[in-house]
Amino acid sequence: MLAQFHVPATIVVGGGARREVAAQCERHGVKRVLVVTDEGMMRLGPGGEIVAILAKAGLAVSTFAGVQPDPTDINVIDGLAQFRAERCDAIVAVGGGSPIDAAKAISVLVANAPPLSQYAGYHRVPRPGVPLLAIPTTAGTGSEVTKVAVITDTERDVKMMMLSVNLLPTAALVDYELTLTMPPALTAAVGVDTLTHGIEAYVSRKANALTDPLALSCIQLVARHLRNAYHERANREARAGMMLAACQGGMAFANSSVCLVHGMSRPIGAIFHLAHGLSNAVLLPTVTRYSWSAASSRYAAVARILGCCAAETPDAAAAESLVVGLERLNAELGVPRLGACPGVEETRFHALLTKMAEDALASGSPQNNPRIPTAEEIVTLYQQAW
Ligand SMILES: NC(=O)c1ccc[n+]([C@@H]2O[C@H](COP(=O)([O-])OP(=O)(O)OC[C@H]3O[C@@H](n4cnc5c(N)ncnc54)[C@H](O)[C@@H]3O)[C@@H](O)[C@H]2O)c1
Ligand SMILES: [Fe+2]
Repeated sequence: MLAQFHVPATIVVGGGARREVAAQCERHGVKRVLVVTDEGMMRLGPGGEIVAILAKAGLAVSTFAGVQPDPTDINVIDGLAQFRAERCDAIVAVGGGSPIDAAKAISVLVANAPPLSQYAGYHRVPRPGVPLLAIPTTAGTGSEVTKVAVITDTERDVKMMMLSVNLLPTAALVDYELTLTMPPALTAAVGVDTLTHGIEAYVSRKANALTDPLALSCIQLVARHLRNAYHERANREARAGMMLAACQGGMAFANSSVCLVHGMSRPIGAIFHLAHGLSNAVLLPTVTRYSWSAASSRYAAVARILGCCAAETPDAAAAESLVVGLERLNAELGVPRLGACPGVEETRFHALLTKMAEDALASGSPQNNPRIPTAEEIVTLYQQAW
């Protein structure tokens, strides 16, 4: 199997990387920037700080702070209208995966006719968008380095996954200092999302020689730093470690793939508006229990890195210990069971199980899993995670 690897042409990593934003814009001949962000980033400061840096460098700046968590096609249309009205020529995204994904979709709709839904799936975006600089503030989705965007189609209540090289940001400025404000619950949810990227990239049927080292390093960094970042908000070493883990996890999964956890998590996010990291976290142990026998040596390697078992434990026992280890990690990070998550109403959940299973399969991600489930098996897995 041939392996292809796509990442942004420029990735700047380290404390203060965000201040490179004006220099990067100048490098690409940008004159008028649309800053795409959300209310939280405007309230907490990073949104305003980036706007000020760009304005000071003499660029015209317009701010679109209308992206909601787990962004929708409507957010994208609103941002596109502002981009056009202000005659912008580039986009700077500041925030978690939501503003970055919305910015990617706005960027491609500048060059590709709407509706966005026609670009859902793999390699369907014909033309590149405008220059896009991504500055992540969660650690995280890794969206700053991926050719993936996830946007909710509000008419069908489906989280559309788009994958295309034309969605790649031009540059990523990966600055852990922006994550120091994350509260523990957000740190936990986005941190387990990162871990899920590392694990799924590594066990995926599309795992390859270019993604394996990044996936393993991502898992190692999470093992070392997630608990400290969760318990000590201002621990700079832990924040830097998790930011790097998120970036490496993004590079790994976008060039391998995500699998069944992400496939099952998107329908929960689309229907019940459960945050992406949380919907992955509640599924990860159950899906791991279902999947490990089809790739026991890979799951065993993950278990050993995470310290779930002794180094000499044989593969099957090690892989099994991962399930317990992931359940313990969730408990330590305050991640509830699926049935106890806010907004996931029981009657509706049971009524929609078949739709969720079908939507999960339609996304294509479960087909990359080491063990490929039927729709009925996915229904059972949702019930087990409840
Ligand atoms: N494109 C990809 O490769 C990719 C990968 C995984 C997930 N995703 C998508 O990313 C989205 C989730 O992104 P996310 O988990 O980063 O969260 P998010 O962007 O949805 O942000 C969640 C909340 O956290 C706040 N926040 C962000 N940074 C903060 C900080 N430093 N301090 C305090 N609060 C902060 C935001 O204002 C927001 O209210 C989902 O839509 C998911 O599907 C995309
Ligand atoms: Fe994810």
